[in-house]
Amino acid sequence: MLVEALKAGRGLELRQLTLRDARPLFALVEANRERLSRWLPWPEANRRVLDSRAYILLSRRRAQAGLGQSFGLWWRGELVGVAGFNWVDRANRCGAIGYWLAEAAQGRGLMTAAVAALLRHGFRTLELNRIEIRAGVRNLRSRAIPERLGFRREGILRQAERLGERYVDHVVYGLLASDWKAGRKGR
Ligand SMILES: CC(C)(COP(=O)(O)OP(=O)(O)OC[C@H]1O[C@@H](n2cnc3c(N)ncnc32)[C@H](O)[C@@H]1OP(=O)(O)O)[C@@H](O)C(=O)NCCC(=O)NCCS
Repeated sequence: MLVEALKAGRGLELRQLTLRDARPLFALVEANRERLSRWLPWPEANRRVLDSRAYILLSRRRAQAGLGQSFGLWWRGELVGVAGFNWVDRANRCGAIGYWLAEAAQGRGLMTAAVAALLRHGFRTLELNRIEIRAGVRNLRSRAIPERLGFRREGILRQAERLGERYVDHVVYGLLASDWKAGRKGR
């Protein structure tokens, strides 16, 4: 299901990327390439505006097919990152969230707010039962997001991802619909 936008509060909006965003999206990747490449495999292959166009088209197609959806993050009118469901498995009602943020937008709680909005969307609208986040064991900033939002640390996947010449272990965090509802009552 393709959703055009999600509100995350704090002046932050998640919007489905369109082809008009290809140029600013590519500029953001260029400006943050080295930092992003430390933890994500795709910047290496994203070398031209055309690559960002292809990513946006694929993301729209996957959203239409109900397989996942990426959103651009706009803060104070500016594109500052991307977050969304990397995949959704309808049969098992589960999905996985991924994200990245421009360096200048870090440290303000924006990604935590964006992921909280994705959780509302995932559990309420997509009716998922389980949402997971995987992060490199040493990617402490990324790990802090599921930890802040009440995910349970479920285990380690050894050498789960190849980043350049190294293999990185992942921590898997999971949140169930029942955990999420109970957490909201407690707040
Ligand atoms: C992972 C990543 C998105 C985290 O960004 P971030 O800015 O640390 O995360 P948030 O936007 O949620 O901000 C949290 C920070 O804002 C602070 N903050 C301020 N107000 C806040 C609020 N209302 N709520 C939560 N945090 C708040 C927190 O204390 C924290 O700062 P600290 O780390 O100095 O304690 C970013 O580091 C990134 O893009 N990294 C490279 C790509 C990557 O690793 N992606 C994930 C792959 S698994």
